[in-house]
Amino acid sequence: MEKILDIITGKMERAFAEAGFDAAFGRVTVSNRPDLCEYQCNGALAAAKQYKRAPIQIANEVVSKLAAADYDLVEAVMPGFINLKLSGAFLARYLEQMRTAPDFGIRKTGEGKTIVVDYGGPNVAKPLHIGHLRSAIIGESLKRLYKFFGWNTIGDIHLGDWGLQMGLIIAELQERQPQLPYFDPDYTGAYPAEPPFTLTELEQIYPAASARKKEDPDFAGKAHQATFELQSGRPGYRALWRHIMDLSVADMTRIYDDLDVHFESWLGESDADPYIPAMLENIKAQGLAVMSEGALVMPVAEPTDKKEVPPCILVKSDGSSIYATTDLATMVQRMADWRPDKLLYLTDKRQALHFEQVFRAARKSGIVPPRTELEHIGFGTMNGKDGKPFKTREGGVMRLERLIGDMTDFVRAKVVENRIVEADQVEATTKIIAMAALKYGDLSNQPTKDYIFDMDRFAAFEGNTGPYILYTIVRIKSILAKYGDWDHLPVQVPANAQAKELMLALTRFAGAMEAALAGSAPNLICAYIYELAGWVNKFYHETPILKEEDHALQAGYIALMGLAKRVLEQCIYLLGFQAPDKM
Ligand code: ARG
Repeated sequence: MEKILDIITGKMERAFAEAGFDAAFGRVTVSNRPDLCEYQCNGALAAAKQYKRAPIQIANEVVSKLAAADYDLVEAVMPGFINLKLSGAFLARYLEQMRTAPDFGIRKTGEGKTIVVDYGGPNVAKPLHIGHLRSAIIGESLKRLYKFFGWNTIGDIHLGDWGLQMGLIIAELQERQPQLPYFDPDYTGAYPAEPPFTLTELEQIYPAASARKKEDPDFAGKAHQATFELQSGRPGYRALWRHIMDLSVADMTRIYDDLDVHFESWLGESDADPYIPAMLENIKAQGLAVMSEGALVMPVAEPTDKKEVPPCILVKSDGSSIYATTDLATMVQRMADWRPDKLLYLTDKRQALHFEQVFRAARKSGIVPPRTELEHIGFGTMNGKDGKPFKTREGGVMRLERLIGDMTDFVRAKVVENRIVEADQVEATTKIIAMAALKYGDLSNQPTKDYIFDMDRFAAFEGNTGPYILYTIVRIKSILAKYGDWDHLPVQVPANAQAKELMLALTRFAGAMEAALAGSAPNLICAYIYELAGWVNKFYHETPILKEEDHALQAGYIALMGLAKRVLEQCIYLLGFQAPDKM
């Protein structure tokens, strides 16, 4: 379906042409004077210069060519603006088409295209922390948005399962339990099926090893050696690695499930490893790599650079590959397996330079062909109320699980206190509201900006919050449930001013979704539904929907509420949460 603005513009362009002017002057925009009109066209002012005529004359001639039935108001005003208010019939027709079309008639611009969204990046053996929250939430939302526009979407978790952290754990474990068969190079039997540690122990081993590395160069050396041997395939280390992976991945899955975040691909950095040798050969054969201080690097600076862009390191002087090597090799794998049209990465914005280097290296070497778009979204930091990166009260990094738990406890207290639902529904409803509070709180900010995590504000039932949106949906649901069968009712002409505002807001759905997609900006979906919910509530307050005795009129109210509910639910689905039945 065409967007309403495009339809109105089309009509305006034809009117300009019929009046003898260039159709290109017919561009219509949403009015910047909503007190005067809904839409406006300023084309006559520009046309005046070209045709050497008074703008108001041109505007009047164009207005005379517009079909009066489409507008409640269509007038030329000094010095030459054309002001428009749409007619109820025009609006009802448009919304009825939107109501009956699949996915509200959104244009499936992504049909036939594939995107890989890289929005996990958790490191094995380290608990998920709040740094992983933003990539998970923003990435999941963008993935759903791409899918909505018809893209084939692959969310890849890209586990950090291969680096020094693995060697550190192995080295630390060897010190603690040297008798284990994993460390005996002559051992040829089968390794135990059960891991020699619990998840809790594992999560304690890593920070201990990491701290030790800084003080104990000997230990650091052992960890590097263990990393190298793991990567070269030493069987005992591989077996240990499997244990670490199994425990860690099971735990991550649980937390991502809680967040309603789902990855289609569970590959990790280790899966890119087999692609590295051929990739390096290829880069070398093209003469793109040079030796620098014992390391193999690929210069990626460009003359137009305003800041220095250092070369992309491919192989370190000790022979090991690093983060950039893995990312490039992962691109090789993704191109080979999925032939994507776009690769989208979400990380903290501090990784911006890394992605700049990797993207340039990928282009130069041809690993990623020109037809495949590359985008990195570097998101801002989640801060505490003091404006500094969010920490636990003890000053540590907060585990994601704890953050979700705190938010859930906070919301549960409200749900219980306000007796929102029956006792047996408390847990389910709490979870739904807590998710909305958390995700909307994050997504309503522009991804690149830092924001302040404020539980009170995020979980409030009023204001620009997730729970407020849910509350609006629940209100509509309750009206619809009281009314009965509603989903076949056609949209009617607006019965009052609030109905018209609500209808106008509904027509803006497609434009808002397109803007969110184009700008990788779920915050635009939030802004849209906040506005839409406002109009729903104004309409509800001004209109005795369930008390209306004129049944035909009432059916129109209900149809409008039904469409608003469906649009709001579609939007919150795109944001990654859902609405309860009662609240
Ligand atoms: N594991 C990485 C980290 O913790 C994030 C990975 C992001 N994705 C990527 N393809 N580099 O920093």
